[in-house]
Amino acid sequence: MMSDAPDIRFTVTPGGQLSGRLRVPGDKSISHRSIMLGSLAEGTTGVSGFLEGEDSLATLSAFRAMGVTINGPDAGRVEIEGVGLRGLQAPAGELYLGNSGTSMRLMSGLLAGQSFSTTLTGDMSLSGRPMKRVVGPLVSMGADIETTNKWTAPLQIHGGATLAGIEYNMPVASAQVKSSLLLAGLYADGTTCVSEPAPTRDHTERMLIGMGYPVQREGNRVCIEGGHNLRGISIDVPADISSAAFFLVGASIAPGSDLLLEHVGMNPTRTGIIDILQRMGADITVMNARDVGGEPVADLQVKSALLHGIDIPPELVPLAIDEFPVIFVAAACAQGRTVLTGAEELRVKESDRIQVMADGLQALGIDAQATPDGMIIEAGAIGSGCVDSHGDHRIAMAFSMAALCAQGDIEIRNCANVNTSFPGFVEQACRVGLNIESVC
Ligand code: S3P
Repeated sequence: MMSDAPDIRFTVTPGGQLSGRLRVPGDKSISHRSIMLGSLAEGTTGVSGFLEGEDSLATLSAFRAMGVTINGPDAGRVEIEGVGLRGLQAPAGELYLGNSGTSMRLMSGLLAGQSFSTTLTGDMSLSGRPMKRVVGPLVSMGADIETTNKWTAPLQIHGGATLAGIEYNMPVASAQVKSSLLLAGLYADGTTCVSEPAPTRDHTERMLIGMGYPVQREGNRVCIEGGHNLRGISIDVPADISSAAFFLVGASIAPGSDLLLEHVGMNPTRTGIIDILQRMGADITVMNARDVGGEPVADLQVKSALLHGIDIPPELVPLAIDEFPVIFVAAACAQGRTVLTGAEELRVKESDRIQVMADGLQALGIDAQATPDGMIIEAGAIGSGCVDSHGDHRIAMAFSMAALCAQGDIEIRNCANVNTSFPGFVEQACRVGLNIESVC
């Protein structure tokens, strides 16, 4: 999938090591949820560490368009004047959500319970992503939602539907689907229960509980009853482990590196990247583990290490779902073979991350074979050349790190969407030692 964003290219020159300390921007998943739940709460929600990236800003603009007063963001601070569960107003036009799948999937559940209608649109990538996974169960709750005939956006969500709780067994391990149904469940008669086939990120549940909403969790099943209230709270958003991941890999593969990543979110449903890298031989130390407003946080020290290939345990896949582009880079720089299976979800992310990464690694001289649900990578010498990120932020950042063990320059095309999740990536990466330049 090509991006409709302007072509920004990164040129990364090999050599160097990563050192010093870094606090990467705020967690994207938690930032989205802070706006959504803060808007529906009674009273004010104060957020610090908010991700000022295009994805979470798309959510922020959408709630402003529905009448919510939101001050900021100003250096990561946002103040949301909650309007209560029934206080949103009809927006004047369509809600454009850019590249953000999380905005669209979570908001479709939340908006299915409103008295007014909305239309959700997105960029080319988002307009090609599967929405049946949320629209299907929402319709079975009584929602009235129209999609294209391919079950894609634009989504027309007709207001005034009466929702009823359902018992839903998710066929895919998806936090977006779970969250969408829980948000619809706030508006439903009775109880909505969602069971997941494998643990997925639970930021929605944690924030609902933090805001005083009763949530029942038992094993792989979470239930919520409609009709209670949320109360505004203060939220300290940790640094995004999915953004820290690029530096965990970069410092592991660049000899002589020693980097401290500060205040990283360590929710156990997100730490698969650390498990996978440690199994590959990475030298990562978790320090100052603490709890910040219901989310675990720690500082991570990472030093360079000789990595070796592994068979990635399929049960770790949902716990590292966004980190595979950079894990593939780690595998290419390791010794031996790495095999990933059970990750067909990667084909429907911001790009087809299996195909796009296999193509890019092959262009750089690595033997990377895409399989229907994963990849087989033989580590080898990374050459030089040009790769296309296909407008996928995480692919652009992953290939930037590949330059640390490459033989020549790597040019990466279509990098504008790095701003969706990691504004300031080039500057922060330069500061800790990556030889990276961005050109228009
Ligand atoms: C997200 C859930 C994941 C992840 C996405 C953010 C969320 O998607 O890939 O970047 O905030 O709930 P799925 O739940 O579809 O796997």
